[in-house]
Amino acid sequence: MHHILLCGGAGTRLWPLSNRRTPKQLLPLFDGLSLLQITRLRNAFACAEVTAIVNEEQAADIITQLAATGATAPAILAEPVGRNTAAAIALAAFVADPEEILLITPADHLIGTPERYEETIRAAYTLAMQNNLVTIGLQPAYPETGYGYIQYKGNDVVRFVEKPDAANAEKMLQSGDYLWNSGIFCARAAVMLEELERYAPDIYATAAVAAKEWLDTGKLSFGLMQAIPSNSIDYAVMEKSDRVKVVPSNMDWSDVGSYEALTQALAQHYSYRNEQAVYINSNPDTSMVIGKEKLVALVGVENMVVVDTPGAILVMQKGKGQDVKQLHQWVKENR
Ligand code: GDD
Ligand code: MG
Repeated sequence: MHHILLCGGAGTRLWPLSNRRTPKQLLPLFDGLSLLQITRLRNAFACAEVTAIVNEEQAADIITQLAATGATAPAILAEPVGRNTAAAIALAAFVADPEEILLITPADHLIGTPERYEETIRAAYTLAMQNNLVTIGLQPAYPETGYGYIQYKGNDVVRFVEKPDAANAEKMLQSGDYLWNSGIFCARAAVMLEELERYAPDIYATAAVAAKEWLDTGKLSFGLMQAIPSNSIDYAVMEKSDRVKVVPSNMDWSDVGSYEALTQALAQHYSYRNEQAVYINSNPDTSMVIGKEKLVALVGVENMVVVDTPGAILVMQKGKGQDVKQLHQWVKENR
């Protein structure tokens, strides 16, 4: 299989730890490794070849980090402007061998159970070989509105609903018929392109031109990228295609989309302890200090996240992690 690493996202919910230059997937928080490196290593069992589709500004750091993993060096598609996941996946599919099975993964998720993941990917590969567009589904835990939902029977998909409103998310959760979409896809390159051509012909046609330019020159130009309509693969294809199959998985998965998710992942899988933090009449199991700039002392407080970086300090009550988006917006406008 050919691993397609999607790594064009910008960090907004983990500010000030992550920012445009250093997004979530590049932070070396997990025993010195980043989510990008962990993702590459997790998929090496199935994929010798890898193509990373990256934001031009982050390309150098991504190349350095991937080289440090020791896995095969990636081909790099450096986007001068991101046009969301449908464009990135279309470009990757156009430059790949059409018969090749692509394993398309975000670069910023954490999978805590490698054996269950490998089992899941093997099942996805089998379905992708039969010319299906395969996604990995997970048992939903709460009515998240930032995910896709998959109504399913076995491996069959009844309906795919991307980012529902709160009321619908609650209904789907209660019904028990739905899985969360993990955002990890598996398909033959030609099948992905057929579905893009059918359901997103503008993206298909404009991405074909940009991909040809990359094959001819090794570069993606701003003009040709800008011409690709911006949409996610979920809205552009997954909600519409009747070739979608799902592999329900019981792997331990987190998209590390908030400080709550990050602190939980660090505590659960990495026994994270910050030697620089001091807890006085505070339980270190309920609070986490991230960062090694200064000595940070917590006195008489519980359920806190403290993030200490050279440029800013964040002090947050656990449970308020989604408000960091709003904070990031404030920083963008005022600093
Ligand atoms: N190269 C590139 N260019 N990568 C991109 C771009 C882009 O323009 N936009 C997003 N990505 C990368 C992100 O870095 C991330 O790794 C991945 O593609 C998915 O994009 P997100 O923007 O994080 O998507 P999402 O979280 O809103 O939704 C997707 O993931 C959910 C699970 O985390 C969907 O697939 C949902 O259905 C799913 O539930
Ligand atoms: Mg995401």
